[in-house]
Amino acid sequence: MTKKQIITMIAGLLMPLVTMGAEQVPLLQNVQAYESMSLNGDWNYIVDVQEEGYYDYRMNPTHWGFFLNAKPQRPEDLIEYDFDKSPTMKIPSDWNTQDEQLFFYEGTVWFKRSFQAMPMDDCRTLLYFGAVNYDCHVWVNGKRAGHHVGGFTPFNFDVSDLLKEGENTVIVKVDNKRHAEDVPTQIFDWWNYGGITRDVMLVKVTPVYLEDYSLQLLRSNLQGSGSKYREISFSARLNKKESGHQVCVYIPELKLEQQLTTDAEGTVRATLKVSSKKLTLWSPENPKLYDVRLSLDTSTYADQIGFRTIETRDKEILLNGQPIFLKGICMHEEKPNGGGRANSTDDARTLLSWAKELGCNFVRLAHYPHNEYMVREAERMGILVWSEIPVYWTIAWTNPKTLENAKQQLTDMIARDHNRANIIIWSIANETPHSKERDAFLGSLAQYARTLDNTRLISMAMEVTGASNYVNRLNDNMNQYVDVVSFNQYVGWYRDVNDAPKMRWEIPYNKPVIISEFGGGARYGYHGAKNLRWTEEFQENLYIENLAMLDKIDGLAGTTPWILKDFRSPRRVLPGIQDYYNRKGLFSDKGEKKRAFYVLKKWYETK
Ligand code: GCU
Repeated sequence: MTKKQIITMIAGLLMPLVTMGAEQVPLLQNVQAYESMSLNGDWNYIVDVQEEGYYDYRMNPTHWGFFLNAKPQRPEDLIEYDFDKSPTMKIPSDWNTQDEQLFFYEGTVWFKRSFQAMPMDDCRTLLYFGAVNYDCHVWVNGKRAGHHVGGFTPFNFDVSDLLKEGENTVIVKVDNKRHAEDVPTQIFDWWNYGGITRDVMLVKVTPVYLEDYSLQLLRSNLQGSGSKYREISFSARLNKKESGHQVCVYIPELKLEQQLTTDAEGTVRATLKVSSKKLTLWSPENPKLYDVRLSLDTSTYADQIGFRTIETRDKEILLNGQPIFLKGICMHEEKPNGGGRANSTDDARTLLSWAKELGCNFVRLAHYPHNEYMVREAERMGILVWSEIPVYWTIAWTNPKTLENAKQQLTDMIARDHNRANIIIWSIANETPHSKERDAFLGSLAQYARTLDNTRLISMAMEVTGASNYVNRLNDNMNQYVDVVSFNQYVGWYRDVNDAPKMRWEIPYNKPVIISEFGGGARYGYHGAKNLRWTEEFQENLYIENLAMLDKIDGLAGTTPWILKDFRSPRRVLPGIQDYYNRKGLFSDKGEKKRAFYVLKKWYETK
């Protein structure tokens, strides 16, 4: 054995995969409520196409990788990387719009950030990431903190035992290469923005903290209208299975307060009664949020929560017991102007105000969980939300790891947002091909979703891709698992141009129907005859014809046309028209309104 091999072997024995003292812990509910130090800002980065910083030349994980942030100690020392001399980019962001050379880049990029810390005995520190696309490994001071897969959900590691007084370093290896077994899989019609795309922070928690809690208005009270009281269910879970801890929930405006003591599982549960007269329900017209104060022993946490109920009755969707028509639009999580991942309240407010201008009370956040700013801003603005995990097109249905991955993303999506009143639909998939393997995969996902949250509606975007004699039939085994049957159809664009007026629809399920996508492309400012593709007039006419067709669909409870704004896609390469943008937006990539915008706005005024 060479000297280098002996050293590698010894090092291997010394450095286990995940260093003791660092672990991924369940997602912290309502992270904003905690004292935290933001690690947003300038991070050094190294583009590592061949993962030199992670594997040795035999493709074995090396113990001398970039995660050590090593510096030459003696003149002859050989260190072939240096974060501090490497360029920086702003985090959170995607690397594609931060560095021109990385516009199309898919691969590994390393990030380093130094920070000052003062570890304290009476508290723990969680390192929290809002999202990292796609596969990321994290080290603190050269020690492994953990690994996460999935580009659109938050995760946190307890790094308390890795911190030291003074200067600390966090290093993140991010790889956004696509693989068949991933979720999403190898092909998808959006830009594969790579990087640390959402907030990073160090969160201070007490050794025992409130890991999760839920406040939900129960459905039952709606029977027998005029009932004097409503019931709100409250439950909470500590990070430790410890009994005897005091948990208090307090809603000052409703003068509701409840003291509880944790059981041996470290949980509490209660039903709070409130007079109906006093309670203002959350709705698009009146997005009422209540200040809620929670405490655990001596620690206190604040949140803002709205109360509403959502359910179906035959082909109707009932919000607070009343039928509602969902006037929606699909959105990708892209900045309002140009490209790049949206990741702030300002981004959200601009995009959502465009949806409001359209007359929307609902948005489908496609095809993955969007950042928390988007969801909370929509809640403040009175916009209902469809939230989805990226089980998109042809996933590796028979791969157990893929199912586990999809379930984890579903768990994290629901864990982060289950207290948001405006989220009414969890979607588990988009445009997936029929097979028994697919049915088994999605069936188990749908059932799992119900175990995580039985207060909201479950759906998925099915598809109707063809008609015979102008009759379109939705026929999907998944209908039995969903509360709302939703499907995408592209009459007038991918098929049956100008035939919408002749179309009839057969949807043999006694459930509400949502048309989760329809639409067509247009280049803003390109004008011509209404049968000339890519003109605004073509798109306008397609909307006119499709909306008239939708008016004839029995059980239609809402729609989310594809899409609010032109968005980047590597699959859209038509020069002078697409230029790597999907042009089905009602707004251009610069926020300019196309003619079809006014057609949909007018139609929503009639709803
Ligand atoms: C599909 C898909 C979208 C895609 C759209 C399109 O239905 O769900 O992700 O962008 O069609 O073709 O434009």
